[in-house]
Amino acid sequence: MKALILSGGKGTRLRPLTHTMAKQLVPVANKPVLHFVMDQIVNAGIKDIAVIISPETGEQIKQSLGTGERWQADITYIPQDTPGGLAHAVKIARPFLQDDNFLMFLGDNLIQGGVNHVIEQFNNEKPEAVILLKEVANPQSFGVAVVDGNMQVINLVEKPKDPPSNLALVGIYLFTPLIHRAIDSIKPSWRGELEITDAIQELLNMKHRVLARKITGWWLDTGKKDDMLEANRVVLDEYATCNPAGTVDDRSTIAGRVQIDAGSSIIDSTIRGPVVIGKNCVIENSFIGPFTAISDNTVLKNSNVEHSVILENCQIIDIPRLEDSLIGSGTRVMKNNNNQKILRLFVGDDAEVIL
Ligand code: DAU
Repeated sequence: MKALILSGGKGTRLRPLTHTMAKQLVPVANKPVLHFVMDQIVNAGIKDIAVIISPETGEQIKQSLGTGERWQADITYIPQDTPGGLAHAVKIARPFLQDDNFLMFLGDNLIQGGVNHVIEQFNNEKPEAVILLKEVANPQSFGVAVVDGNMQVINLVEKPKDPPSNLALVGIYLFTPLIHRAIDSIKPSWRGELEITDAIQELLNMKHRVLARKITGWWLDTGKKDDMLEANRVVLDEYATCNPAGTVDDRSTIAGRVQIDAGSSIIDSTIRGPVVIGKNCVIENSFIGPFTAISDNTVLKNSNVEHSVILENCQIIDIPRLEDSLIGSGTRVMKNNNNQKILRLFVGDDAEVIL
């Protein structure tokens, strides 16, 4: 079996971060989402992996994953000129996929527990496709499926105004090569994309068997700011370990699962996990509360931060309380100390400032 990771697209919903960064590389607990995706695929025993990349962010993705050596996998990059849809991505990957079965994984999706069970089901029951479903409160934002009592899929629709169920399609799919025939017979949707949801519906129209599997654990679709904070919370909760490799002075207190990477110093501060702090950070006279991830080379002085993601090379100085925040790399957040009620802002495009 091969794997196809979709890591193209535009990432408009995570702007401004995605003005400079591929959305699949935005870190969750200091690790790019795409690296978790690679871990899960390789964990399921798949080593032959193609990655769809866009002209805008393809180079970053290549630099981040390399040849796949780190995972002992073999990565083939497939450039997609325009984001023509998930089924369009499969179409251009045809020379790589040939007539093999494959796992398709959207590069900004992640599920608890990995994909081994679903691959096992696909291999044992031999349908033409297996999809994963999750009950959600807002099905109109996703592909939606209707299933029978045996978890056979009856029909599917992409982002319906009037959803026929609350079962959203998770961005992880298993296909036999028959999907290529289905893709050849679909037309672009109202949003101008070749939808994989329509191609799976076409398999059903052709009277083939598509099975669904409901997931009960967490599913992270890291498309928006609040999704990112939630992903950070859930992943820190599950994976954070107690590993203070940096230096911690004797006036500081570290409680719970706190990871501090090499070269970072904690001075006169309190850190309450789960928290991850990257390399070469300085945390001084500050409090860092649960569910916070701080990337490399960031400085925090005289500040309190909780439930936030702060990317690399930031400075947070004299901020009494920062919560539920997602701060892009190279950002400086400082207090105006001259007691005037004046704000001095230098804020990038598409930013959000709530005062
Ligand atoms: O996240 C699950 C949802 O993903 C499903 O419920 C929907 O049925 C499915 O259509 C998809 O919906 P989105 O609108 O959220 O997909 P998005 O455009 O965000 O693209 C998903 C990933 O695929 C993202 O990492 C970018 C990549 N992509 C997307 C397109 C349109 C490509 O590589 N090429 C593309 O042409």
